[in-house]
Amino acid sequence: MRVCSSLNATLLTGAAYAAPVTTDDACSPAIERDINEFQAAFEELAATAKAVHTASLANSTGTCTVDNIVIRKEWSTLSSTEKSAYIDAVLCVQNSAALTPTSLIPGVRSRFDDFVGTHINQTLNIHYTGTFLAWHRWFTYNYEQLLKNECGYTGTQPYWNWGLTADNTTKSGQLFDGSELSMSGNGEFIANKSDLQLTLGSYPIVYLPAGDGGGCVTSGPFANMSVNLGPVSLPLNGGDVETGTGLDYNPRCLERDLGTEVNALYANFTSIVDLITSRTNIYDFQTWMQGYPGSGSIGVHGGGHFTIAGNPGADVFTSPGDPAFYLHHGMIDRVWWIWQNLDLETRQNPISGTGTFLNYPESANTTLDTVIDIGYAVLGASIAMSELMSTISGPFCYTYE
Ligand SMILES: *[C@@H]1O[C@H](CO)[C@@H](O)[C@H](O)[C@H]1NC(C)=O
Ligand SMILES: *[C@@H]1O[C@H](CO)[C@@H](O)[C@H](O)[C@H]1NC(C)=O
Ligand SMILES: *[C@@H]1O[C@H](CO)[C@@H](O)[C@H](O)[C@H]1NC(C)=O
Ligand SMILES: *[C@@H]1O[C@H](CO)[C@@H](O)[C@H](O)[C@H]1NC(C)=O
Ligand SMILES: *[C@@H]1O[C@H](CO)[C@@H](O)[C@H](O)[C@H]1NC(C)=O
Ligand SMILES: *[C@@H]1O[C@H](CO)[C@@H](O)[C@H](O)[C@H]1NC(C)=O
Ligand SMILES: *[C@@H]1O[C@H](CO)[C@@H](O)[C@H](O)[C@H]1NC(C)=O
Repeated sequence: MRVCSSLNATLLTGAAYAAPVTTDDACSPAIERDINEFQAAFEELAATAKAVHTASLANSTGTCTVDNIVIRKEWSTLSSTEKSAYIDAVLCVQNSAALTPTSLIPGVRSRFDDFVGTHINQTLNIHYTGTFLAWHRWFTYNYEQLLKNECGYTGTQPYWNWGLTADNTTKSGQLFDGSELSMSGNGEFIANKSDLQLTLGSYPIVYLPAGDGGGCVTSGPFANMSVNLGPVSLPLNGGDVETGTGLDYNPRCLERDLGTEVNALYANFTSIVDLITSRTNIYDFQTWMQGYPGSGSIGVHGGGHFTIAGNPGADVFTSPGDPAFYLHHGMIDRVWWIWQNLDLETRQNPISGTGTFLNYPESANTTLDTVIDIGYAVLGASIAMSELMSTISGPFCYTYE
């Protein structure tokens, strides 16, 4: 019942803008709340956050205003024209020349790969660090700008609300339904796969049920895409891990092992609501989101990634090699945005963590002055953490619906 009571407590912090909230009755321990109720609870949280955000925008003196702000939307709410425009822009960046010199990353073949190469290069400095949320906000934003500036896209970066697919990951109308208006579907079915085994230092292994695919993606717009980089650290069903530098040219099909089980276990509406409402400081929020080490949970961040799974989806380093990465990270950013806006005064700027994965090896604390850089993804895009904490200041001017 922790979810229920903390839900109310959190909503109270945004009392001035609070939408109608769960009544005490609905929170009675005697009443089992099903997934639909958690979906409703999530939507209330999102609406409350949006109201706070809108009020702070109206009050802001910066250049971002109600007139120029752009709105990021959930994939399944896009019109056919909007889906098609997004897909075309992604295919365009996959066919644009790379900026990364092949002397540095021999395997890059496209602008899309510039982003994959940057993520591979920096993986151990952007996960379980103080930069995790802001770095990925900046990375996803610059991918969105790439689609716009270099491929004529006029829309915004869509996101994947994991809760909507937790009962069927390849459900019709959702992003993985395999139609021409999807991010492509599952990989070809491979029978009898053992669990994936995730290891993290000396913590107990986390076993993840295999998905319903496993082979090459055969339908939709990305059926023919070439994954060029990786693997670096790719868990295989049964316990082996395929390793490499990830930087050499290694063209292969896009594989997925979409699995409703992992989606349902780690990225359902209950997990999302629980993360937002019961993790009240930035350390807890970002650590539970990524899977608290030793807890046995992979968090909603791992939940989304390992729902996609496959090669490169299951490789923490190379995961942006699957174009669905950016819809997953759109949702990661939205969940942070919701959490921030539910208590803007205390949650806008706090940072916890250092510049190295679980602070190994030891490194300095990340602060608002820490500068991050996304390499050849966007040259000259070094920026201080302080610029990345709000989506309506610094370089940003976007909101979520
Ligand atoms: C609007 O700005 C004023 C002055 O900075 C501040 O006192 C007030 O709390 C702000 N209101 C909102 C809704 O952000
Ligand atoms: C999931 O949805 C797809 C597309 O609507 C359907 O073909 C499939 O049977 C569904 N799977 C389950 C387990 O319901
Ligand atoms: C999968 O396992 C079932 C039951 O053990 C077996 O009948 C089937 O032949 C296996 N299929 C493959 C492709 O190994
Ligand atoms: C993939 O390539 C094959 C053979 O070149 C082609 O027939 C098919 O239309 C392509 N599919 C997509 C989605 O581009
Ligand atoms: C939803 O996720 C939570 C936490 O990840 C998990 O404990 C729970 O069992 C999941 N619910 C379902 C119905 O799978
Ligand atoms: C780094 O952060 C930790 C945890 O918040 C804190 O205990 C420590 O004093 C900080 N170190 C420095 C040098 O500020
Ligand atoms: C990889 O990161 C290092 C800094 O950590 C940087 O010096 C180098 O240029 C990066 N390489 C690429 C290809 O981005």
